Amino acid sequence: AEKAKVTVHYSMADGSTVTVQSKEGENLLDIAIENDLDIDGFGACEGTLACSTCHLIFQQPIYDQLEEPTDEELDMLDLAFGLTDTSRLGCQVCVTKALDGLTVKVPEGVADARDV
Ligand code: FES
Repeated sequence: AEKAKVTVHYSMADGSTVTVQSKEGENLLDIAIENDLDIDGFGACEGTLACSTCHLIFQQPIYDQLEEPTDEELDMLDLAFGLTDTSRLGCQVCVTKALDGLTVKVPEGVADARDV
């Protein structure tokens, strides 16, 4: 069966918004990469839960609809720059038809050990 299309708005750190089309089941890291979104250092570990550069911030009603994060995700998320109550790692969140039209916010920075 044809997978449902899901529209995603990425609210970029510079204040612009980039709107892209994705398919149900794709994760928010892959969607950003497929669409060549220019996010500094994004997805450094390619979705293997070994970095926190794919950190995205969700709106509360959307966040509440997402599947619970795993302990592994929460551990890594703790290291993310600018962590919020509605933060998730983009590589761990797959879009569904119910989320169609969601907006995710790209944080203004990524945690980088070289800056510490
Ligand atoms: Fe590294 Fe998501 S891309 S944890």
